[in-house]
Amino acid sequence: MTTLLQQSAAALLSPWTGINEAELASRFEYPPDESLGDLSLPCFPLAKQLRRAPNAIAAELAAQVNAAGQPAPSPIRWRAEAAGGFLNLSAVGSEWIDAVLAEAESPQLGRLTDGTGRRVIIDYSSPNIAKPFGVGHLRSTVIGHALANLHRTAGWEVVTVNHLGDWGTQFGKLISAYKRWGNRAALENDPIGESLRLYVRFHDEAEDAPGLIDDGRDWFAKLEQGDEEAHDLWTYFVRESLKEFQRIYARLGVSFDRLLGESFYNDQIKAAVERLQAAGLLEESEGAVVVRLDAEGMPPCLMLKSDGSSIYGSRDLTTALYRREQMNGDKLLYVVGAEQSLHFRQVFAVLEKLDPTWADIELVHVPFGLMKMEGRKMSTRRGKVVFLNEVLEEAVQRASAVIEAKTPDLPDKEDIAEAVGTGAVIFGDLRNRRMLEADFKLEEMVSMEGETGPYLQYTHARARSLLRKAEILGILTNGSPADLKSDEPANALEAADTAAALHPQHASGAPNPHPLDTPAARACLFKLSQYSEAIRGALREHEPSFVARYLLDLAKTYNRFYNSGKILDLAPPQEQSAAGTAPGEAASSAICAAASKLRLSEAVADTLRHGLALLGLKAPDKI
Ligand code: ARG
Repeated sequence: MTTLLQQSAAALLSPWTGINEAELASRFEYPPDESLGDLSLPCFPLAKQLRRAPNAIAAELAAQVNAAGQPAPSPIRWRAEAAGGFLNLSAVGSEWIDAVLAEAESPQLGRLTDGTGRRVIIDYSSPNIAKPFGVGHLRSTVIGHALANLHRTAGWEVVTVNHLGDWGTQFGKLISAYKRWGNRAALENDPIGESLRLYVRFHDEAEDAPGLIDDGRDWFAKLEQGDEEAHDLWTYFVRESLKEFQRIYARLGVSFDRLLGESFYNDQIKAAVERLQAAGLLEESEGAVVVRLDAEGMPPCLMLKSDGSSIYGSRDLTTALYRREQMNGDKLLYVVGAEQSLHFRQVFAVLEKLDPTWADIELVHVPFGLMKMEGRKMSTRRGKVVFLNEVLEEAVQRASAVIEAKTPDLPDKEDIAEAVGTGAVIFGDLRNRRMLEADFKLEEMVSMEGETGPYLQYTHARARSLLRKAEILGILTNGSPADLKSDEPANALEAADTAAALHPQHASGAPNPHPLDTPAARACLFKLSQYSEAIRGALREHEPSFVARYLLDLAKTYNRFYNSGKILDLAPPQEQSAAGTAPGEAASSAICAAASKLRLSEAVADTLRHGLALLGLKAPDKI
């Protein structure tokens, strides 16, 4: 989990400390104040091994760094200073700047190889047919989608599964209700709303007519036995609900590799439960069949109900066996609300009891907290059926109003408002640690200021607009004035200066400071160099918010840099000309400074776009 700068510093110090590079690299910290340096090595842990006081070690290492004929093992050069027991390092010269920018410019930006050769199965979204797509399902969809992207960029082979809740006794009730009071037109017009109405009416009327419950049970029995009418109706409900869910997925840019609902496992459950039986794990308890988990400190996991029918526990047992044995998963992720934590702990414990080799498979429940709307708990019951589409719709309308006020002449306004509005909702969900409650305040979320998705999208667009302007002016980010080599070189931009523009430190023999060697640019470059680290952290903790936070930090450092001086200022600095520098040289150094700043802008824009895509947000070029 280290950056290229940490690795370079470690390579330099490793021989003097006797600590291997990888270990040493992981020990660097970021100084609390950037004026202290870029990296800091606490020398306290070295004291015992080297039998010296930490400040003596820091002082000696500093002397060695400053004296060494750098560049030593890496092209990056360092200057050191001891501060008590800390060794503070600052990168010097221009090599480190090039190295950081080159990393961001590489087609490998954000790509890791950590997961190479391994397959992860990610279960997310997983709403229930004929029921509203709840807030929990939104969180699962957004978090799961980001986790899928993160695994993919880290080299994992990813299989995403939508584990639809498409089976259970409620379908018997729904069929019974539909046959009494339902009709096709109403269902097709509002599949989930109508299903819910039928379901609620069924329960209301059943209070006075207990026979209804029996009728519902009979229909479910028929469904389980493969009765044609029951099966056709069930298929129809599933199809209509899916159409509705699909609209939400399309807006969020989410798709799944496999749509394997609970019903998919119907004919595998018996065999799975038999394996538990053969392993001697099943016990009867109050008529039901359970696996006891006393030793694990958990209540028994229910496998079969007293009537012998399967339930959630046995379904998830079967599902996990399938994902390991048929889908060849090395890691199984379940992105499901925290209220199901016990269920997953139980299922995972049962699997390990059944076969100890399950310990080799990474089984992870990725829980998340509740979601509130303007500080209030959101209810998806009654009325607020397709509430999610409403939330997205409102976010998009608000984004549209913001755009209208800011940039009324923007082309493709509608597409951009859609990207910004949905981006606001997605980012609002991902910006904090997932176990925290997500509070949706739409007005704040769509704002282009503050810790929002639109702020990141806007920062990205701002950098792109700068790059477009530069292109018109003919300045390339690789440091060469575009028109220079071609048609008619302007007087001030003699071809001979190209080399100087490309290698600013050699401009006039004397080492000029690199145009990006300013506090604001340095802070931005250092942030840039931490992108892979943010991705790794997010994966390690299954916490997309690490990338969200990283992007906010990157955008903040970039905006500070952006505001710290005019990037496209091509006028030669006054003093320089006065000091007798040839006018051509001054102009070319102004162009070279602009080109370097543009190069940083492009690297930041590319990183923002890449990171936003990982989280599931679009990054329009114009806002
Ligand atoms: N459909 C379930 C619900 O809405 C979530 C399913 C999660 N996945 C699983 N394998 N249990 O609560």
